[in-house]
Amino acid sequence: MSETWWRGAAIYQVYLRSFADGNGDGTGDLAGLRARLAYLAELGIDAIWLNPWYPSPMADGGYDVADYRGVHPWFGTLAEAEAFIGEAHGLGIRIIVDVVPNHTSDRSEWFRAALAAGPGSPERERFWFRPGRGDAPPNDWKSIFGGPAWTRVPDGEWYLHLFAPEQPDFNWTHPEVVQEFLDVLRFWFDRGVDGIRVDSAAVLVKDPDAEPDGLDPYTDRDAVHEIYRGWRALADTYPGRVLVGEVWLPDQERLARYLRPDEMHTVFNFPFLGAPWDAGVLRGVIDDTFATLGPMGAPATWVLGNHDVTRPVTRYGRRDTSFDHADRKHLAPTDPVLGVRRARAAALLSLALPGGVYIYQGEELGLPEVEDLPDEMRQDPIWERSGRTDRGRDGCRVPLPWSGVEPPFGFGDAEPWLPQPAGWKELTVEAQLADPASMLELYREALRVRRAELGDGSLTWLPSEEGVLAFARDSGLRCVVNLGAAPVPVAGEVLLASGPLDGDGLLPPDTAVWLR
Ligand code: GLC
Repeated sequence: MSETWWRGAAIYQVYLRSFADGNGDGTGDLAGLRARLAYLAELGIDAIWLNPWYPSPMADGGYDVADYRGVHPWFGTLAEAEAFIGEAHGLGIRIIVDVVPNHTSDRSEWFRAALAAGPGSPERERFWFRPGRGDAPPNDWKSIFGGPAWTRVPDGEWYLHLFAPEQPDFNWTHPEVVQEFLDVLRFWFDRGVDGIRVDSAAVLVKDPDAEPDGLDPYTDRDAVHEIYRGWRALADTYPGRVLVGEVWLPDQERLARYLRPDEMHTVFNFPFLGAPWDAGVLRGVIDDTFATLGPMGAPATWVLGNHDVTRPVTRYGRRDTSFDHADRKHLAPTDPVLGVRRARAAALLSLALPGGVYIYQGEELGLPEVEDLPDEMRQDPIWERSGRTDRGRDGCRVPLPWSGVEPPFGFGDAEPWLPQPAGWKELTVEAQLADPASMLELYREALRVRRAELGDGSLTWLPSEEGVLAFARDSGLRCVVNLGAAPVPVAGEVLLASGPLDGDGLLPPDTAVWLR
């Protein structure tokens, strides 16, 4: 496979804790994933991105990493991870691991050493320890998960955490921090991983002592790019590796800077993920994406969901179909039939667009967001940090249904760590494989066609009525998506459709078709 495989790859995101449980403890693991690798190979994906699998107290689902060079015992061992990488490669599937450079766990060796060594010690310089202003924190920064961004330790100093208190921020001006992460990257590249997903990539550089200067104090500071230049130089010494940035920035010009030829290879397309089900808005986002990335020579990535956001089926059935972290619209009324219909059409849209595509586990099954989890089962720190006003992200992290008619639906032998809705008996892999009209069959067929003739390349917009997106790909395949209220005529051989066409070749609302 080519060294630029990632330019047109279909990348499947595995949230390990919820994928498949191989050892019967209710938590997904590497044994479960390895046993289901054939499922992913048959689905037709090119790569897997795994959320953090490292030892962690799990204060933030593993994004509080205690040891960047190990595997959490819940998930297995480093030896199993290595075996898994080898098996995936044997099936032609590449592996992307998640690296979390902004913060570590409060239980990590470095942070424990910093606490023990006390104020003024070199150990504290790897983090952001500061005296307070009297009894007040050093400044007024707020945590992204809610509440203050500073926590006080028993000796009176405060430390900075942009996320939960269990996630102290590293001081990236410290040469040992820089060196440590180059070593971590090397560690995983040496074990054969094909890429790194860079967590919270825009917030690493900050200066808590600076006078407020009108700029955001920690998002997208210019000096952050120096870090990624170092990472790219290292990645370039290993053939075929990719750096994928998690960069949430509204300003596309600023976003493009992360994709300069000596920085990251790709970033997630969050404007696409956040866009409402609206032809004009989507067309605008698609055009902006190419306008932004084109000059950098970077391919687009098309993303409908991930482990942080509301599942598409639920979102697209609401009145407001956009997504925004600031307001998850939890429990807003949703029409499940409409949501599924649109999610099917959105799948064909995103799989037809030029570039790479991400599929978050369960999207291929059309799983909805689970919005009625019992409060006492919620694990996402956002729930408590927001004073129980934001129900957070657990609803898109519920363990997958594989087979059978009742929980745990073949996920494993034990009760899963989050409860699965009884209605998921219709959505199991087993049920969907037996149904040619299922979401899973749509994904499988679309990925098969995509692999043969889509992926990287360009598109040509075709004339279309209002509310309709229509474009042709290099191979001649045409994709038409009807987001309007009335059926529209389409002509040509139908390769694949997200729903039945009306008689006389009319494409109904909220339906997409691939034509030749
Ligand atoms: C990223 C992750 C999210 C995590 C946060 C803090 O946004 O995707 O799950 O909570 O970073 O690490």
